[in-house]
Amino acid sequence: MDLKSNIDLKKLPAHIAIIMDGNGRWAKKHGRPRVFGHKNGVTAVRETTEAAAELGIKYLTLYAFSTENWNRPAFEVNALMALLVETIRKEINTLNKNNIKLHAIGDLSRLPKRSYKALMKGIESTQHNTRMTLVLALNYSAKWEIMNAVKNLAQQAVDKKLVPEEINESDFENVLSTQGIPDPELLIRTSGETRLSNFLLWQVAYTELYFTPTFWPDFRKEHLFEAILDFQNRERRFGMTSDQLTT
Ligand code: IPE
Ligand code: IPE
Ligand code: MG
Repeated sequence: MDLKSNIDLKKLPAHIAIIMDGNGRWAKKHGRPRVFGHKNGVTAVRETTEAAAELGIKYLTLYAFSTENWNRPAFEVNALMALLVETIRKEINTLNKNNIKLHAIGDLSRLPKRSYKALMKGIESTQHNTRMTLVLALNYSAKWEIMNAVKNLAQQAVDKKLVPEEINESDFENVLSTQGIPDPELLIRTSGETRLSNFLLWQVAYTELYFTPTFWPDFRKEHLFEAILDFQNRERRFGMTSDQLTT
C-alpha cells in the first residue's frame, strides 16, 4: 500500500514533534556499542526531515538531547555532542538545497563551545529558508523552559512592565523558547516507551500522541506517513462532543 498517497494534504499537522528514542537498544540488538546506535539515528533524522518537508509540514521538532541526558556516561555525552557538530556541518548544504531553516530550543549556552558554534553557523546560514523549520531540542527540558518563563514574567512584573492579574496565555507563550511556533498537533515517540520525558509539557496540552515500537535508527519515511495517517483518522474534540464537531 502506498501510504503517502493516502495522506490528506489539506489536513496535515502544521507541527510534528518527535522524541527520537531507542538508539541504545537498537545498537544492543545488533551487538554494537550505544554510540553506533546514535550514529545510525542520523539516517532517520535525514529521512524524516526530508519526508516532512516533501509533504508540506511547516515545523518539525526533534528531541535530540535532554537536560537529563547529561547524566549519561561522559563518553556517550561527548560522542553525542561530536555527532551533533559533524551532522550539522555535513547537512547544511542539504538543508539549504531543500529550503529548510534550522532552529534550536533549550539551554544552548551550556553546550560545549564547538557544538554551540556549529549550531549557530547552521542556524545563521539557513535563516532565510522558508519551506520548513527544523527545530532541534538540545539541552532542552520543559521544566527548565517553564521555570525560565516564570522568572521572565516575574521580572517584568517587578519592572512594572506587566500587571500580575492580567498575565494571559499568550504572555506566557511569548517567553517560552517555542515562541512564534504553533503547538505540535502530533507527537511521535519511538522505541515503545510511553512517556514524555520532560518534553514540551505546556505545548502538548492538546497534542495527539503516537507511540511506535520502532527504534529510532529504523525510522523511515513510511513510519512518518503511518503516524500522520493515524493522526488523520482521529477526532480532535477539544473538550466538545462528537456531534458538535460534525454539525
Ligand atoms: C535516544 O536513544 C537518543 C538520545 C536520548 C540522545 P537512547 O540513547 O535513549 O536509546 P535507548 O533508549 O537507551 O535505547
Ligand atoms: C528522551 O529520551 C530524550 C531524547 C530523546 C533526547 P531518554 O531515553 O533520555 O528518556 P528516558 O530517560 O528513557 O525517559
Ligand atoms: Mg532512551
